[in-house]
Amino acid sequence: MSRKYEDFVASPDPITHRVRLISGNWKMNLNHLEAIALVQKLHHLMRPEDFRYAEISLHPPFTALRSLQLSFEADRMPFTLGAQDVSDEPSGAYTGEISASMLAKLGVGYVIVGHSERRRLFGETSELVARKALAVHQAGMRPIVCIGESAKERSDGDTEAVLAAQLTPVLESYPIDALGALVLAYEPIWAIGAGEAAAPEVVGEIARAIRALVEARVGSEIATSMRIQYGGSVTAGNSQALMTIEDIDGLLVGGASLDADSFALLVKSA
Ligand code: PGA
Repeated sequence: MSRKYEDFVASPDPITHRVRLISGNWKMNLNHLEAIALVQKLHHLMRPEDFRYAEISLHPPFTALRSLQLSFEADRMPFTLGAQDVSDEPSGAYTGEISASMLAKLGVGYVIVGHSERRRLFGETSELVARKALAVHQAGMRPIVCIGESAKERSDGDTEAVLAAQLTPVLESYPIDALGALVLAYEPIWAIGAGEAAAPEVVGEIARAIRALVEARVGSEIATSMRIQYGGSVTAGNSQALMTIEDIDGLLVGGASLDADSFALLVKSA
């Protein structure tokens, strides 16, 4: 069977006109050999209509980026390559860091910045996250900026204030003409790895509030073109309910993206 690569371009949602984006964040899992095996199986399970429904980005650890780049090219797999983090510095004496230009050279399209695990376990501030987002943009890629409140912040009624504080440095430093192409991921910390996603009504309410906040700061044109993903215990069982939420344009998937069958089913169910 020969399939044309052009068959795999995602169509915008007919109502929102935004192109959906489903992203698999593998976190610190899978060596490069396991990564190749997973994408081969995943590719085999996917059909052209799955790729037309949404753009699919895969975010392996840095050590598997080159292998996946080669696999995607060799087998014409229509996944978009993604990274999980990046340095805010362009180059220099920063032992252990990876620059945005290095990622761009590997064909990376999207870079997750400010994941709650980076904020919480590695002390990343919202200012640093904003600088990382900018570095991603300057290297010609798109950032997926993660924001989300903890269980305590939610029960204290601080959710919107927390999200606004996380977003503000990005909205203030990112070039305004490129902001509409930035992706936000709303990931309530209490739903990540929890086994149960936030209820669709809650996600809908928060996503609407995020879009309203963006609109209030930078205008409605940017707010309506910006994509908002939901992340936190997304599975094949809830992907459809989450994707039908009006202000949700995609999903950021952790655990369920580590298995080809479950991730393929999740995308097909969405
Ligand atoms: P999870 O992780 O799907 O395993 O809850 C989501 C994330 O942290 O991006």
